[in-house]
Amino acid sequence: MQSERGGKKLTIVGAGAVGTAAAQWACSKNVAQEIVLIDIVEGIPQGKALDLAQTSPLCGYTGSIKGTNDYAETANSDVVIITAGLARKPGMSRDDLLAKNVEIIKSVTREIAATSPDAVIIVVTNPIDAMVYTVFKTSGFPKERVVGMAGVLDSARYRYFLAQALGVAPSSVTAMVMGIHGDNMLPLTRLASVSGVPVEDLLTKEELDAIVERTQKGGGEIVQHLKTGSAFSTPGLAAVEMAESIMKNQRRVMPCAAYLQGEFGITDVFLGVPVVLGSRGIEKIIEFELTEQEKEALALSVKAVKEQVAATGI
Ligand code: LAC
Repeated sequence: MQSERGGKKLTIVGAGAVGTAAAQWACSKNVAQEIVLIDIVEGIPQGKALDLAQTSPLCGYTGSIKGTNDYAETANSDVVIITAGLARKPGMSRDDLLAKNVEIIKSVTREIAATSPDAVIIVVTNPIDAMVYTVFKTSGFPKERVVGMAGVLDSARYRYFLAQALGVAPSSVTAMVMGIHGDNMLPLTRLASVSGVPVEDLLTKEELDAIVERTQKGGGEIVQHLKTGSAFSTPGLAAVEMAESIMKNQRRVMPCAAYLQGEFGITDVFLGVPVVLGSRGIEKIIEFELTEQEKEALALSVKAVKEQVAATGI
């Protein structure tokens, strides 16, 4: 769908740390002709959007960015990134957020479904795998147009830690994290490589185990440092990378939380798997053979996600 300015329209719901970071990345990467930042708090999205608009002469953003409290302004968005909700504080698990965020997410989804019925929705709010299911059920959108951000963030962490251990450029590391956005996530060592060279040939099992564990606890490590919140720069960029692939129909392959109906032997959950992101949203789920050990690890993710979803009451 074309927005009024003739380019793509991106709405970001929630002007907190992640939403603001996403808006900043979206401006600096010039991914949309129109960006709308919406929040329930009066003044915050307006002030943040105006500040970001003023980066345009410096960062080269050529579109518009507007802050609002009114969903009418978000109408006919091509992509909507939902970041609204509470973030973790030290000692909180992502699941502790569930009860509070499920109500926020339902109300946001109803507004988005009414104003942008053709949008692709990217869900960032935690616990992501349950929130994306909530958005799917509440919106009534086809499964292709509801996708959760987590694998891109977790894989970026994994790639960074691998690159640090190997002393190479992080962009030369290809690696993927599948499964839940939680402690049972599955950073795949078998498929991680440096320009095609398997990392299992370059690092010891002990080194790899430590990197896998640090990746699984990567969000918590940042919460421990920050004390008043959780990571925002990489989560914001991860969501914008997904939005860009959709709005520009780039068909990039990214691990995202997708609704599974038998893929990988899993049914009726959203779970991180590699997908092709294009203008219709999830164009394809890339299914491949997992080892027995990987299947067992993924089963732990499925169990944890199903428990989360049960707790939403959806
Ligand atoms: C993290 C939070 C956002 O992983 O879930 O940083």
